[in-house]
Amino acid sequence: MLFELARPLLHRLDPETAHHLTLKGLKALPACKPRRDDAALSVTLWNRSFPNPVGLAAGFDKNAEVMAPMLGFGFGFVEAGTVTPRAQEGNPRPRVFRSARDQAVINRMGFPNQGVDAFRRNLESFLSVKPRPRGIIGINIGMNKDQTDPARDYCALVRQLGPLADYLTVNISSPNTPGLRDLQNKANLLALLAQILEERARACPQDTPPLLVKLAPDLTEEQMSDIAAAALQSGIDGLILTNTTLARPGSLAQPFGAERGGLSGLPLRKNALGVLRRFYELTEGKIPLIGVGGITDGNDAYDRIRAGASLVQLYSALVFQGPDMIKDIKQTLIERLKTDGFNRIEDAIGADHHKTAMKRHAS
Ligand SMILES: Cc1cc2nc3c(=O)[nH]c(=O)nc-3n(C[C@H](O)[C@H](O)[C@H](O)COP(=O)(O)O)c2cc1C
Repeated sequence: MLFELARPLLHRLDPETAHHLTLKGLKALPACKPRRDDAALSVTLWNRSFPNPVGLAAGFDKNAEVMAPMLGFGFGFVEAGTVTPRAQEGNPRPRVFRSARDQAVINRMGFPNQGVDAFRRNLESFLSVKPRPRGIIGINIGMNKDQTDPARDYCALVRQLGPLADYLTVNISSPNTPGLRDLQNKANLLALLAQILEERARACPQDTPPLLVKLAPDLTEEQMSDIAAAALQSGIDGLILTNTTLARPGSLAQPFGAERGGLSGLPLRKNALGVLRRFYELTEGKIPLIGVGGITDGNDAYDRIRAGASLVQLYSALVFQGPDMIKDIKQTLIERLKTDGFNRIEDAIGADHHKTAMKRHAS
């Protein structure tokens, strides 16, 4: 309700100013305790129990400041970050743009964040409250803009944050850090992941946090097939598909559509779903996938799960619809499960592919 009251004001402000005000409000208000979710929505992955499969995507809570209130809104998990070892300012403002007509956001933030020390303090303070609020905390890590040896930054972050994380995400797909997306190239990726995994084994010998890699939607078939092979070969635990896109559909409002940066929200939906579906095929369902990009309602979330996602995330739609959408998504998921005759959300993961395989088998 508060969001409904605040929305007209927030949407008259520059998007980043509105975001900072929102964070301030969230920090000032007492966080709600998450309500218990329907047991049919729970997902067990990597030995961790997600109360529901709907997560907050990275970039909303860059400094790990509002994880408790976001879990209180009903997310099953929150991915904080992207955090880099040293604090950095990011690109000059304005650098975030929204179009309500397109239900879309373009950002070229360039990982502004307070650095790992501040992030760690915030995370430790969240973890010190017992019992912990229900829900899983992922940590999304990235490299500083001026780092010439990416593995150094990623390994430093794994060392410092790995022991505190429920899972870690290696972000190599933001379009706003020069050279970052080149790490998606197979040889670079295998070399980087080998170093990070070694660091993880050293830093977290017990209760090792799963390591995920977040990818861009702007990949050719050859790149997707190379990355899928590298993912399986390297021994990472999952993939997040997808980050924002550099593509610009002709339908976007102008001058919004001409802004440089990564596009997210509704115009990304089709591409992100297609990339997710393709990765499920390429990896033969052997590695868990998180689907993100243009999810606006429960039907989108369910489509992503049927296409192969074990979990989903969203960010942009929250800007336009507010936190009530989370409860609606979960309600729709329960309804869609019933219609399809599944008892649990876990039974629906990759269901589209199983149907195709059965058809192929029968013919
Ligand atoms: C303003 C903004 C900032 C973002 N910052 C990050 C980030 O720091 N790290 C990251 O991995 N993704 C970041 N993202 C990408 C989102 O996590 C997500 O992958 C993308 O927006 C697609 O999902 P959506 O269409 O639901 O927004 C950001 C997105 C937006 C809109």
